[in-house]
Amino acid sequence: MSTYQESWQQWRDDPEGFWAEAAASLVWSRPWDRVLDSTQAPFYRWFAGAETNTCYNCVDRHVDEGRGEQAALIYDSPVTGTVRSYTFRELQSEVARFAGVLVALGASKGDRVVIYMPMIPETAIAMLACARIGAIHSVVFGGFAAEELAKRINDARPRLVLSASHGIETRRVVEYKPLLDSALELAHCKPEHCVVFQRENSTAKLVPGRDIDWQRALDTAEPQDCVPVAATDPLYILYTSGTTGVPKGVVRDNGGHMVALKWSMQNIYGAQPGEVYWAASDVGWVVGHSYIVYGPLLNGNTTVLFEGKPVGTPDAGVFWRVIEQHQVKTFFTAPTAFRVIKKEDPHGDLLKTYDTGCLRALFLAGERADPDTIQWAENHLQVPVIDHWWQTETGWPQAANPLGLGLLPVKYGSATVPVPGFDIQVLDEHAAPVPAGHTGALAIKLPLPPGCLQTLWQDDQRFIDSYLAEFPGYYATADAGFIDEDGYVYVMSRLDDVMNVAGHRLSTGGMEEVIANHQSIAECAVLGVKCPIKGQVPIGLAVLKTGADIGETELEQEVVAMIRHDIGPLASFKHLRVVTRLPKTRSGKILRGTLRKIADGEPYTMPATIDDPVILDEIACVLDTVNLERLP
Ligand code: COA
Ligand code: AMP
Repeated sequence: MSTYQESWQQWRDDPEGFWAEAAASLVWSRPWDRVLDSTQAPFYRWFAGAETNTCYNCVDRHVDEGRGEQAALIYDSPVTGTVRSYTFRELQSEVARFAGVLVALGASKGDRVVIYMPMIPETAIAMLACARIGAIHSVVFGGFAAEELAKRINDARPRLVLSASHGIETRRVVEYKPLLDSALELAHCKPEHCVVFQRENSTAKLVPGRDIDWQRALDTAEPQDCVPVAATDPLYILYTSGTTGVPKGVVRDNGGHMVALKWSMQNIYGAQPGEVYWAASDVGWVVGHSYIVYGPLLNGNTTVLFEGKPVGTPDAGVFWRVIEQHQVKTFFTAPTAFRVIKKEDPHGDLLKTYDTGCLRALFLAGERADPDTIQWAENHLQVPVIDHWWQTETGWPQAANPLGLGLLPVKYGSATVPVPGFDIQVLDEHAAPVPAGHTGALAIKLPLPPGCLQTLWQDDQRFIDSYLAEFPGYYATADAGFIDEDGYVYVMSRLDDVMNVAGHRLSTGGMEEVIANHQSIAECAVLGVKCPIKGQVPIGLAVLKTGADIGETELEQEVVAMIRHDIGPLASFKHLRVVTRLPKTRSGKILRGTLRKIADGEPYTMPATIDDPVILDEIACVLDTVNLERLP
């Protein structure tokens, strides 16, 4: 029996005992009354009755246990030419002082704090400072525009918003403060204060009375100790895209989250305390929360916070430079990052100029890892390349090749096996399990293990409707796939109208809501179509209002600008085509699945319910005119 099988069986035989054992490696100020509280099912709560503090376990405990002089966080920013390191002791001091800023501005346990910041150490410090005082942070990715930020502010109703003067996108400076100001104009919920970090060479204009200068506030701040919070109290809210333009506020607790992440660091990633761990993502996404900030720090690892891109900062060798310079042992990124590197440096010439011998493994997630990309990375890096599957909602991988438990044989195209805690099943539309090798909806039997979402922020009903109602007794992942005879999980596509662009999850419905506001457009559909670099990109199809007098190019430019303005540049919306009508079922539902297949050049069967089959030929011709980026 492999160690993985032993671990799986141990969890199967006694799930509560399994997680209690994992929890013993963390520090609790009060023990739990029950490992799993099922009394309010389907709202399960882990480690009920316990008290703890996530910041203590990430930072202070390492100082108390003799790791104070080890690097906790390395900030590597090729866009500003900075490399700066913080020991655990220095991080403790920075976090305690910034917690003092929050407290001085009236924030306390349970208050929400929205963080809209670039990839700078202050962002991680702010997150940990919130955790320190029991405030609930909600980080909003910097690529979102004012409107999206406003939606999140309205939902989270924060006491404070933390921001910075600007971010840097390769060479383009993105002024954050004007975006924040417009978001606050749009939002009906107004925070009491905004604390603004002024980056070098820029001074964002502060609104007197409302805005506070970060550094000035820090100069007079009283350091704060960690406040005990209930294990079941929320640590953070992270908004993610659903099928509509209204984002879902995923709520994560303190106790279960710590237990799951710490267990995953050792058993999935095989990371030992003291090693350097690097997740090249952004703190605005779940990968950034779990594996730039919390996971590595909980495990006593040095984490790398990288402000740059895989190419262009300055070239496709930057990942290898960072690995060599900081002696990274475990590296994690999205397949799209490797696809752009492969495009720029197909033979890995830049890689040959660095020594990446320190690297133990590369982990890929955020989208399906195509076998070509995995093999390219394997050949060039000469380390195991591990595809693993997870979601904002689960917060940590539900399927992986668990390096820490001993690698299993690789099957290209599969995220390997279910992680202990996740009973993954493939279900048909009647919620019945399908045989091995057959495709269906991927669902996870309840209860979900520690670390997964507790609910959606202030919307228990939406949590039930979105995830639990379709398959009673299961959490619906919204992914489709199959499990083969050896138990390997294959994740093939989303079942809903969510697309995955460069590892970023975006709502087609959200884009349609924006496009529908154009005065010349009667109706529209947005499709996520295959792109060799970004995995998927959006393409819009629009039907004009009768009498609308606008050229297609002009319309495309206007719609591209609207999406950029309302959702943000990360939507990567660049293509809109005009069609005479959209194909629908007789009951009026747009045939998105068929449209996507046409766009991807896949075979499709004519839906029996289509109202006008001829329109599909017209759309196929129109989509042919869209020129997506192609690999050489
Ligand atoms: N703030 C402001 N704008 C941002 C932003 C941020 N934090 N992040 C992205 N954007 C902008 C980009 O500048 C780009 O703008 P443009 O249309 O003016 O060029 C747009 O949003 C699209 O961004 P992206 O999809 O990231 O495209 P890109 O061409 O800049 O980079 C990759 C493509 C593949 C290099 C990049 O997406 C990447 O490194 N992805 C892998 C890692 C990752 O972050 N994964 C996420 C989850 S694991
Ligand atoms: P996010 O919530 O942004 O992390 O996106 C989660 C979605 O990304 C999942 O529901 C999948 O559709 C997709 N995804 C993440 N990892 C993988 C993977 N390893 N293989 C296939 N799809 C993945």
